[in-house]
Amino acid sequence: MSEFTSESKAQTESRKDAAMWTSTFPLLALEYPRVPAEERMTHTIVIFGASGDLTSRKLVPALYELYRKKRLAGPARIVGFSRTPFSHDAWRAKLADSTARFVGNHFDQATWNAFAGSLFYQAGDIERGETLAGLDAFLDELERGEAATRVYYLATAPEFYEPAVVNLGQAGMAQPSRGPRRIVVEKPFGSDRASARELNRVVHQVFSEQQVYRIDHYLGKETVQNLLVLRFANAIFEPIWNRNYVDWVEITAAESLAVGHRGGYYDKAGVLRDMFQNHLLQQLALTAMEAPARFAADFIRDEKVKVFRAIRPMRPKEVTADTVRGQYRGYRNEPGVAAASRTATFAAVKLRVDNWRWQGVPFFLRSGKVMSCATTQIVIQFRQPPHMLFEGERKGAGEANRLVIQIQPAEGIQLHFQTKVPDAEMQTRLTDLSFRFQDKFAGGMPDAYQRLLLDVMHGDASLFARADEVELAWGIVDPIQAVWDAGDAPRLLAYEPAAWGPEEATHWMHDQGRQWFDICPVL
Ligand code: BG6
Repeated sequence: MSEFTSESKAQTESRKDAAMWTSTFPLLALEYPRVPAEERMTHTIVIFGASGDLTSRKLVPALYELYRKKRLAGPARIVGFSRTPFSHDAWRAKLADSTARFVGNHFDQATWNAFAGSLFYQAGDIERGETLAGLDAFLDELERGEAATRVYYLATAPEFYEPAVVNLGQAGMAQPSRGPRRIVVEKPFGSDRASARELNRVVHQVFSEQQVYRIDHYLGKETVQNLLVLRFANAIFEPIWNRNYVDWVEITAAESLAVGHRGGYYDKAGVLRDMFQNHLLQQLALTAMEAPARFAADFIRDEKVKVFRAIRPMRPKEVTADTVRGQYRGYRNEPGVAAASRTATFAAVKLRVDNWRWQGVPFFLRSGKVMSCATTQIVIQFRQPPHMLFEGERKGAGEANRLVIQIQPAEGIQLHFQTKVPDAEMQTRLTDLSFRFQDKFAGGMPDAYQRLLLDVMHGDASLFARADEVELAWGIVDPIQAVWDAGDAPRLLAYEPAAWGPEEATHWMHDQGRQWFDICPVL
């Protein structure tokens, strides 16, 4: 009998050990204020790919933080599943080290010890259906017949998503029984529209759309959610948030780091698949969408879908004119990267949103690795006043009003406007009003995964991508990628590390009568 079959001795022991732990440590029974008492039930979070990076860097630190802050709804148990054999204790010890590293001074040994009592580990191979029967039995044992919401989190490499879903289905683990069953699928969700559609098809054979939570961790960022609050909880922005007042919109996600140890993955993906299809387009959707009638998952997602549908698909010659692609010098020497790689690590893309609100307003999206600094920001660049009385105003478009929404790392908002320079006749200068979250709110910004994990446990899919949304987003990126893959237009430009991408990206923007807001965090 292999070590991965359901009846192995190791698993029998693991069950006994689990029983001991559940009786020794109370499960994580804590209050979460948004959830009415009758809806609280126990939660079992099963992490597939438990020995991987995402689990130790993001998922378990986020769950620990939720526990520390007493934010978990009802009792929760966390079960890791992957091929590497670990005892419960060995897994807990590994995670204690990594969690201490990633949560920094929030780590408290006594709190960890209490939390660790709800961590369990089961070794198994997700590609072998029979192992899941063993996992199911283990979960039943942990749940002790109580009603429990189960969350299956696919934190594996993407090639295991389909077998995982199929095997969960065959083991009968997707059917709600004594509580709902939900599945979380990490990015990348497919590598183009066709593969995303096929993955959706496979997923929907086993899980209904209401059970599926497709992660885009940018939606878990407080500042990304604040876009909706800024726009729809204030009355002063919406009236000017349109083609009559906005000249262009710029969304930049600049990273200072190189691809590091992820060269193997990145070289196949490139910047369009890695950052545009998901994070940049999601930010575009929240910036451009209409106000939903209610703050509820399908109301919000319907509005985002309308934006994606309104984005004009690029024809090949537009791809040449409306995109810039670059690769940082030194990329080809990164581990896992092909010596003659033509993968873009930088892109600038001009998109048009064909609807009444945005007709004629270009959306410039830009992202790259090894850029001047790490900053993600959305710039709403307003038009010049229709009649300019003062000299300083006439310096150019960059002198008009601008709203800079700083997503990270210096979270906040800055409004730029002209002011009279004192004691200098009627000279004007661009000045600003700035708001920084850290000045107004104590406690710092939680990691995006905390909010996303809580929302899955509560069954709130507002911050997750729906099947149609993901496919439409691929439909925007695919035509660009196809032209890039097919030939040499636009040219793949080399850029120096620690620059704002290739110089041509700056000229390209000037040629359109615009300029990038190339400033490292303004706040
Ligand atoms: C990931 C990409 O989705 O997002 C990475 O795969 C990128 O390449 C990362 O570095 C950026 O996320 P954040 O939260 O650090 O801005």
